[in-house]
Amino acid sequence: MEYETPLFFHVMQYADRADRDVVDMVSGNPDWEPPEALREGLRDYASLEPDRFQYGPSEGLLELREEIAARRGVDAEQVIVTNGAGEANYLAMARALERDSGDEILLTDPVYPYYPGKTTMLGGTQRFVATDETGQLDPADVRDAASEETAAIVVNSPNNPTGAVYPAETMEALVEIAEAYDAILVSDEVYDHYDLSGEFASALESDSAHRIVTNAFSKSMAITGFRVGYAIFPPELVENAKSRHMLVNVATTRPPQYAVLRALRETPPEYYEENRALLRERVDTFTDALDAAGAEYTTPRGSFYVMARFEDYPGTLENVERLIDEAGVAGMPGEAFGDSRSAWLRFALVTPRVEEAAERLATYFG
Ligand SMILES: Cc1ncc(COP(=O)(O)O)c(C=O)c1O
Repeated sequence: MEYETPLFFHVMQYADRADRDVVDMVSGNPDWEPPEALREGLRDYASLEPDRFQYGPSEGLLELREEIAARRGVDAEQVIVTNGAGEANYLAMARALERDSGDEILLTDPVYPYYPGKTTMLGGTQRFVATDETGQLDPADVRDAASEETAAIVVNSPNNPTGAVYPAETMEALVEIAEAYDAILVSDEVYDHYDLSGEFASALESDSAHRIVTNAFSKSMAITGFRVGYAIFPPELVENAKSRHMLVNVATTRPPQYAVLRALRETPPEYYEENRALLRERVDTFTDALDAAGAEYTTPRGSFYVMARFEDYPGTLENVERLIDEAGVAGMPGEAFGDSRSAWLRFALVTPRVEEAAERLATYFG
């Protein structure tokens, strides 16, 4: 079997090699500051005793797991600190598939491409459920697609790439569907701090043995390079996942966990509010330019991304490369996220040059 390398890397490389200035709107790497306490924690770590440079507990530093558990209203035993949300999703999907309760994973269309990638890697099969034009998922459609074969339903809200935020009723209904089919709802909440709508609802709000919540500090603290995430499992499912995590990783890297713990304890809510305010501004700047360019788009209600459609300019890899060369703006081809968005392009608002990119697009397409 061959695993697919995410298209994302290809586009980044193409943009890097371009012989002109390119505004990078491909990646999901925040360009703003991490919390100050995180930098302090990291600096302090360098002076600790050598024993802190050795293996930490495989499932994560106990104090960090306890801090996460207290914030999320669960038991620390249910928390595994992972190598980002990426590993958390992997552990959750693997756990769902090894329960002998089906081998099909329900995914949304459009989809964050790592989910189908992981499904294939884990030997599962996939079935896609379409979302509406704003990215909302109708639980009735998920119910129609579910069957005895369903091992998991994997969702992401706030959503990459659509910017949709699912209301509490959707999350509750998804948990119920997972229960009805003896499946697992995997809820990836990595953009929870970038809910611009005030309507974000965590799957943790429904207590159930059929849901796993995944998350990370990658986006919320602007530290995608630190690789600190977590998964919250029902007590019945957590032990196997801890073993898998240990067999794959031995343990997770230790200094970033220490720094994240410090930042969790000391960072005021204003830090997160300021980042949301910055994003709101960028959404306005960018969508104004899309209006000027005559594009169709969805205004994100959360996450970092705007999907846009330009007339006679489908979201193929070829057109993305042309946009890099001719307009100096790099986005992601919509086709990377599934069939339904193959006419669209995705732009990430994590660059200080959003305004410049917006002007370039307005000039190019306007
Ligand atoms: C929906 C979603 N889940 C997971 C991840 C990966 O998160 P991490 O860097 O914490 O592994 C991303 C990164 O862009 C994402 O968009």
